[in-house]
Amino acid sequence: MRFSDFGERAKGGGILQLMDDIGAALAGGGDMLLLGGGNPAHLPAVEQALRRAMRRLMEDGDAFERTVGDYDGPRGNEAFIGALAELLRGQLGWPVGADNIAVTNGSQSGFFTLMNLFGGKHADGARKKILLPLCPEYIGYSELGIDGGAGEGLFRANKPRIELLGGGFFKYRVDLARLDIGGDTGALCVSRPTNPTGNVLDDFEMQTLAAAARQAGVPFIVDNAYGLPFPGIVFSPAAMHHDANTITCLSLSKLGLPGARTGIIVAAPEVISRIAAVTASLNLATGSFGQSLALELIRGGEILQLSADEVMPFYRARSRQAAGWLRDGLGDLPVLLHKPEGGIFLWLWFQDFPITSADFYRRLKAKNVLVVPGEHFFFGLREDWPHRRQCIRLSYAQDEATVQKGIEILTAEARAVYAGP
Ligand SMILES: Cc1ncc(COP(=O)(O)O)c(C=O)c1O
Repeated sequence: MRFSDFGERAKGGGILQLMDDIGAALAGGGDMLLLGGGNPAHLPAVEQALRRAMRRLMEDGDAFERTVGDYDGPRGNEAFIGALAELLRGQLGWPVGADNIAVTNGSQSGFFTLMNLFGGKHADGARKKILLPLCPEYIGYSELGIDGGAGEGLFRANKPRIELLGGGFFKYRVDLARLDIGGDTGALCVSRPTNPTGNVLDDFEMQTLAAAARQAGVPFIVDNAYGLPFPGIVFSPAAMHHDANTITCLSLSKLGLPGARTGIIVAAPEVISRIAAVTASLNLATGSFGQSLALELIRGGEILQLSADEVMPFYRARSRQAAGWLRDGLGDLPVLLHKPEGGIFLWLWFQDFPITSADFYRRLKAKNVLVVPGEHFFFGLREDWPHRRQCIRLSYAQDEATVQKGIEILTAEARAVYAGP
């Protein structure tokens, strides 16, 4: 068969490998220790709240029949959007109304639309890029570009500054002095907390990036899939950021609803109407189920309380525990851990590693431990940087025993690699 350029590129990259690994491990009966994927934990308090919401949906007149029997509009469910606008404006003070909100079938599909709304060929013939001010950055963006060159050609990523923190920790910082928003930039994009590193850009970095984007006349896309206001998996002091030039992306997934595929975009009405137009042709409408379930949690503000009292403390405790296991297991090996400031991942830097992180991934997979090799997260970087082959990401969202066992195997294998053949 002959495929288009788009078809040729649809052979899969890091994100397909990652989702395939998760699918195969789940189907394989449970031997594999899943420290690879982005599945959130199953939190009893969240699950109970969702069960209560489901019961209400079943008992509330014809709410269930309307949820499954009607298409919503391409911008999402009106009641859900209205309640969310009320929460963001009323409780959090964001200057937004219903026309600033669109729902997408998972925030991933929202990113597909956003990256292609701003990146790629423009009317004046320019091919614009999405600038990632700090890499490593979320693997799921890398294959989204339809235009703009093959695969990751849509992105330009900036190398971070590395701050050594002592005690076996380090932190990436946006190299603000080298932030070069050229005329070929269509938008800036950051995830906060960052997937894969657990970094949370501080308020100064956010304000500086927001100002730079505004000055350059391009939007600032902020991916809050793990962030504020919900699910709020942020352990460091960080203020919420939203303004008229910012496109804030939220998701119900990491709260505990990945199966419902519900993403949310908060942005200027001219962006929202384009999102809706793309949804109409790609999906006709957004899936209603996640919105119906979450409606009551949003109306009463329970979603904020669940995030602050249940979700964040759970991940903070887990992240400290897993970081402790890692530090104990790694001992004096030259391996540094990115300071865990949020999200559901830990990011390890194997300094002077005798093998690549892709080889290490394969060795761990052979020992039934799934992690994600770091090289996939450095897309868009113009220079070769050995650091990109020295990092791995692991998730601590699985049950404690799985994470502990996985870390035990990982640290033993790291010791074996450093010891040499
Ligand atoms: C940083 C980030 N953004 C977006 C997404 C997409 O999430 P979803 O499509 O489930 O909303 C993910 C999923 O892992 C993510 O890690």
